[in-house]
Amino acid sequence: MSRLRVGVVGVGHLGKEHARILAALPDVELVGVVDPNVPQVEMVAQRCNTRAFRDHHALLPLVDAAVIAAPTSHHAALAADFLARGLPLLVEKPMAVTVRQAEEMIELAEKHNTLLQIGHIERFNPAFEELRRHPLQPKFITCERYSGFSGRSTDIGVVLDLMIHDLDLVLALVQAPVRTVEALGVAVLGGNEDLAQARVTFSNGCVADLKASRVHPTPVRCMHVFGPEGVAGVDFARRHLTLMQPAEHLRQRQIDTRRLDAPALASLKMELFGRHVQVQELDCNSGDQLTRELQEFLHCVRTGQRPRVDGAAGRDALALAGRILDSLRTHRWEGTADGPAGPWHLPAPRGLLFIPPSQPMAA
Ligand SMILES: NC(=O)c1ccc[n+]([C@@H]2O[C@H](COP(=O)([O-])OP(=O)(O)OC[C@H]3O[C@@H](n4cnc5c(N)ncnc54)[C@H](O)[C@@H]3O)[C@@H](O)[C@H]2O)c1
Repeated sequence: MSRLRVGVVGVGHLGKEHARILAALPDVELVGVVDPNVPQVEMVAQRCNTRAFRDHHALLPLVDAAVIAAPTSHHAALAADFLARGLPLLVEKPMAVTVRQAEEMIELAEKHNTLLQIGHIERFNPAFEELRRHPLQPKFITCERYSGFSGRSTDIGVVLDLMIHDLDLVLALVQAPVRTVEALGVAVLGGNEDLAQARVTFSNGCVADLKASRVHPTPVRCMHVFGPEGVAGVDFARRHLTLMQPAEHLRQRQIDTRRLDAPALASLKMELFGRHVQVQELDCNSGDQLTRELQEFLHCVRTGQRPRVDGAAGRDALALAGRILDSLRTHRWEGTADGPAGPWHLPAPRGLLFIPPSQPMAA
């Protein structure tokens, strides 16, 4: 099999990992990396034994396919230059800043009959893949995705930065149109929103509650899916899936806690997990998701197969993110039409929540 000539555009935090993995794959020739940050691009090129470019135009005639991992606000313009040449692309998430840009990217890919895959990497998380192998009908989903402040992706807020991972996963699970969206958010550090909370209701009755923060003391990336079959908990960081289902006698509704005496209630409490609610813990450590995502991209480039996260999936996640942003920007903190609204205009504080130790008490 001939080696595919691939390049990476934008080799910061994530792009350098794409370059590292591609450089090590036997059926790929990493022909170059691009970044206007010269020390960074030279360092990555040296590590990956490839050429460094400051401008993506130099890469265009050299590659069979490319990965775009530049800041989100650059995705649409960079992608257009590759797609217009019919070059297959893996574009990092979110695929663009606006749905209109996303539509234009999809149209260009279709017009030039080429592949457009979006980097919604959690679809390749082995714990999420394992979840999809079980017959759970999602009726209520909760998602929490928290990180500390990274100093990156300040061109977008937490909805497009972090929550969009879960929006894509929820859309993939629910497979129904969105009926309503309610959201609120706060710009803690100024600029775009850093905290957000959303409730999305689907036309098939499923409800998803999503929370995201990029100013959180501890990292969390988890999802719970509730359905008539039971509950699944996905810990994306640990690549761990917990499945819980009611035992047969609970499914048959043979217990009614209102009719149990004290000893029976005590025994139910002691034996809840195991006897009454069956639990399965699954460690899903079959490879890292970035390598799996890149391998699927390369496979689709070679075979013409449709990727699991195509441009339409990227656009749908972006469109839902847009509805969440519209809702959180108009959230009325005091319920009044002329009162404070949105992530920047909170009600005036009543005072300090507590006196910090370094600050002297007022006389
Ligand atoms: N899939 C994921 O889990 C995940 C995780 C992190 C970031 N991302 C996405 O990846 C993208 C990059 O994020 P990051 O955290 O690596 O950011 P980053 O700031 O660390 O890196 C971006 C790099 O792109 C370079 N760049 C800027 N303009 C460029 C241009 N015109 N051409 C080429 N390079 C250019 C910058 O110099 C920088 O080195 C963003 O879209 C982000 O949302 C995805």
